[in-house]
Amino acid sequence: MRILRTIAEVRASVRDAKAAGKSVGLVPTMGAFHEGHLSLMRAAREQNGLVVVSLFVNPTQFAANEDLSTYPRDEARDAALAESEGVDILFAPEPAEIYPDGFATTIHVAGITEVLDGASRGPHHFDGVATVVTKLFGIVQPDVAYFGQKDAQQVLVVRRVVRDLDLDVRIEACPIVREPDGLAMSSRNVYLDADARAQATALNRALDAADAAHRSGESILPAAQAVLDEAGIDAEYLELRDAETLQPVTAVERDALLLVAARVGAARLIDNHLLRGV
Ligand code: PAJ
Repeated sequence: MRILRTIAEVRASVRDAKAAGKSVGLVPTMGAFHEGHLSLMRAAREQNGLVVVSLFVNPTQFAANEDLSTYPRDEARDAALAESEGVDILFAPEPAEIYPDGFATTIHVAGITEVLDGASRGPHHFDGVATVVTKLFGIVQPDVAYFGQKDAQQVLVVRRVVRDLDLDVRIEACPIVREPDGLAMSSRNVYLDADARAQATALNRALDAADAAHRSGESILPAAQAVLDEAGIDAEYLELRDAETLQPVTAVERDALLLVAARVGAARLIDNHLLRGV
């Protein structure tokens, strides 16, 4: 595996791989790898001749009061994990390589970025994500890019950018990887102390309870809310929305997402379940 810092080096490697007839898979990440990230790398490895993983803690998607300065960083550990998954290139640029002096362009997706995490974290968040992902697509020119369904709204934002800007990349959304007790894996789980770690299991338990209510024809949100209440979690949001448009829905006629975000101990956590339309 090669660790590359510059856009020019990545372009040269990708050009050679494409000339040799290889398809290119990209896994965008901010590092602090866990099984969720590794599952994306495995999917990319199975399906492509060249696998590029980007490791860049993107400053523009963090608000001033968020955890940019304390976000977990351990490039040596991440590099070893990526190498063990058969990744070919780890692209780990400095911020100035991505945002040089004079950088002035933002990709803004209207509508779906204004709700849920866009409302909680502010509009800068998905602007930052859309802009850096568009740049990564421009740098790597992947055939396929892999994202986790854990960040369901992010997947929809990226799909919207790809469609609206006619980007020639296929987006693959991969299933949420969970701890044995159901907690969705997240780089931010390291912020949880023992009590908060136990409390955090209530997020997925709440979504499970809502799934069960949905299957037995009972109302969905109260079932989830009861589990959160019992665990003492005051959610930032707990919402049922159309799985494609993110419009609020009250009944699951088409596929819907039940999404939750909450501050648990020192971490802000998100999770979601897909509820199949009837
Ligand atoms: P990061 O949080 O590092 O996540 C990188 C990718 O891993 C994302 O597509 C995310 O959805 C996926 N992922 C995280 N936890 C997962 C889990 N438990 N199961 C499956 N996939 C999981 O998301 C970002 O970085 C950034 O916003 C980025 C897209 C890199 C742009 O900066």
